Amino acid sequence: MQELEQLKQELKKLNEEAAKIRDVPTEQRAEFGRNLNLRKQEILAKIAAVEKAALDAKVEPIDVTAFCGVNEPLPEFYSTLMGSRHPLTTEMDRVVEIYQMMGFDAVESRQLDDEYHMFDSLNFAKEHPARDGYDTFRTEESLIPPAHTSTMQHRVLKQYKKNLDEGKAIAVVVPGRVFRNEDVDATHEHTFYQCEGVYVSKTCTMGDMLGILREFFEKYYEQKLNIRTQPGYFPFTEPSLEFLIEKPKSLGGKKGDFLEMLGCGMIHPNVLKLAGIDPEIYHGFAWGGGIDRLVMLKYGLMDVRYFESGNLYFLREF
Ligand code: DAH
Repeated sequence: MQELEQLKQELKKLNEEAAKIRDVPTEQRAEFGRNLNLRKQEILAKIAAVEKAALDAKVEPIDVTAFCGVNEPLPEFYSTLMGSRHPLTTEMDRVVEIYQMMGFDAVESRQLDDEYHMFDSLNFAKEHPARDGYDTFRTEESLIPPAHTSTMQHRVLKQYKKNLDEGKAIAVVVPGRVFRNEDVDATHEHTFYQCEGVYVSKTCTMGDMLGILREFFEKYYEQKLNIRTQPGYFPFTEPSLEFLIEKPKSLGGKKGDFLEMLGCGMIHPNVLKLAGIDPEIYHGFAWGGGIDRLVMLKYGLMDVRYFESGNLYFLREF
């Protein structure tokens, strides 16, 4: 790794040299900068090559003929090492099941989306700072791993519009995996799960929405709950609310211990219009919230990072 050290030293010297640009006469600055940049690119390319070579040397070949237990009986001790469902998968199924009992269809989200579904179709104005609030990852092709399941709203509205023509409501939930480019700690993960709900009909009201949400949380936690709302802001709903539940005593809560569980509101007329639904005739509400948080409360988990950790001690608890 001597070579790497040497290259890093060269880079450091170059950066020191770059700081001297202030002393270079104005007419020579462009040339000076270009020259430095070229040398910098060369060094960076060399560093990348050395690092890649070091990594390649470390990778061990995989023996694809090794026993994998598909066609042969498992040795005795393997049975204790058998995999099991991830707790989030089990809980997500439960979430969807509760909504299905209330008459909702379920549509799966996706893991790669675009600017239009992430922002434009949801009434985020171009260049609006609210877009930054979602800490989106981007691929080199500018695709977006969805930062919320709301990216599916536009598709759901278009796909189910025919229900309205047939005199029925649109009632759909969308479970999915979402991604945010933020620092990971006990309450934040870069990868987590959400469930979105979308409802549209001629007569629905915010009271219906609160009724559905209360019913959902009471079924999920298997007890009566105190609920509360507070004003929120989302470009795709007007008005927008945050929905809170009082942490139940049985789960370690005290009186007045309210937890924000999801964002919700009446679907903004622009969102309906973009999907070809006339907001003069139809109204809708939508909501979206994290599944990880829901499950953490249910099982008294203090750290969201367990879910993605692959930690067998944790997984075997379920
Ligand atoms: N997508 C929002 C988020 O992740 C949550 C949300 C708010 C979803 C309001 C909705 C909604 O459908 O109507 O922060």
